[in-house]
Amino acid sequence: MSPVARPALPPIDNETPALRRAWHAVTTAESVTDAPLQVWLLGEPWVLVRLDGEVRAFVDRCPHRLAPLSVGRVCDGVLQCGYHGWTFAADGTCTSMPPIGATDHLPARADLTPAWGVQEAYGLVWIAPEEPLCPPPDFPEWGADGFDCIRTTFVRTPVSAAQLVDNFLDASHFPYVHEGTFGDPKAAEVHDDGIERDGWVVRTMFSTWYRNYDDPLVATGEHEAVQPQDLLKEGSASFTVYLRLGFPVTGKTLAILFCCSPERNGSTHVLKLVARDDSYGSEEMIAKTIVDEDLILAEDLRVLEAYTEMVLHLDLRAEVHTKADRLSVAWRRLLADVVGLADEQVATELPEVGVPDPAVTTTG
Ligand code: FES
Ligand SMILES: [Fe+2]
Repeated sequence: MSPVARPALPPIDNETPALRRAWHAVTTAESVTDAPLQVWLLGEPWVLVRLDGEVRAFVDRCPHRLAPLSVGRVCDGVLQCGYHGWTFAADGTCTSMPPIGATDHLPARADLTPAWGVQEAYGLVWIAPEEPLCPPPDFPEWGADGFDCIRTTFVRTPVSAAQLVDNFLDASHFPYVHEGTFGDPKAAEVHDDGIERDGWVVRTMFSTWYRNYDDPLVATGEHEAVQPQDLLKEGSASFTVYLRLGFPVTGKTLAILFCCSPERNGSTHVLKLVARDDSYGSEEMIAKTIVDEDLILAEDLRVLEAYTEMVLHLDLRAEVHTKADRLSVAWRRLLADVVGLADEQVATELPEVGVPDPAVTTTG
């Protein structure tokens, strides 16, 4: 009996609706004030505004004539549309329609559509358009004693958020893409300690080699420049990755929260945060960290922006996978489950999580 062919899962891009069920870091906390601000997420415009100190997020479309509310203003503590003056309370309820005067009858259809959730964390504003499958990622080093909290340069790129996250989870590109920074040929082979799927999170730990320019004892010859490095990587049902780098030679830690906001197809906003405990508040070290991390991202973008298709394939048969790609495969399967939840018919066709797939070879 010939096997039943599975339908191909569609590739994921910056407008895949299933990713509405996730927290997305969209902008900095200080950029949200009482001047309404438009941001894009998953192909849809949102308006962010601070009312009574709290950040609120609504679909950026007035129910009346669909004008963007981001050209409105805050007036007496409520959001006012800039076109005909309708006003909206903090929960999105329409509170007045000046052109018709005082009335007791304001229809529910005149209310705004709020995000399921909006919150501030790590100096960023996060939106969940619909009920998220998992909470925003933990970033325990951010604000912890002894750690400097550093924002790199936030950039926009045409690369999709899924491709950026996949690249950040990838373990085997360091010696080739990052030859000019931390990559070393000794890191060519990947030996992870296994992949763990924990609900809507995938994680792995592995050790590799790193060209440590930050260790002051390298310059004095007391330490080798190429040092071991212990990595913890966590991906989830979102476009944010948590990475913790431990350096056994120096006993220091550098942690990164890599947040990719899928604005729309052709535009991803990359917000990369770094926390490290070896910079001791030094302005010079902090400035160097930003330069270094910007350079590392630029090295990745040099490859990723050369792709002709800005998508990530969830159908495992579209690419060739090896055991060095196990975390990437696990994350693709997790995303396939996210998409499957939104499409019951596709869900029944998905390969089960944890079951070996013929598309994954076992050779290195
Ligand atoms: S379009 Fe907003 S009040 Fe008319
Ligand atoms: Fe990279």
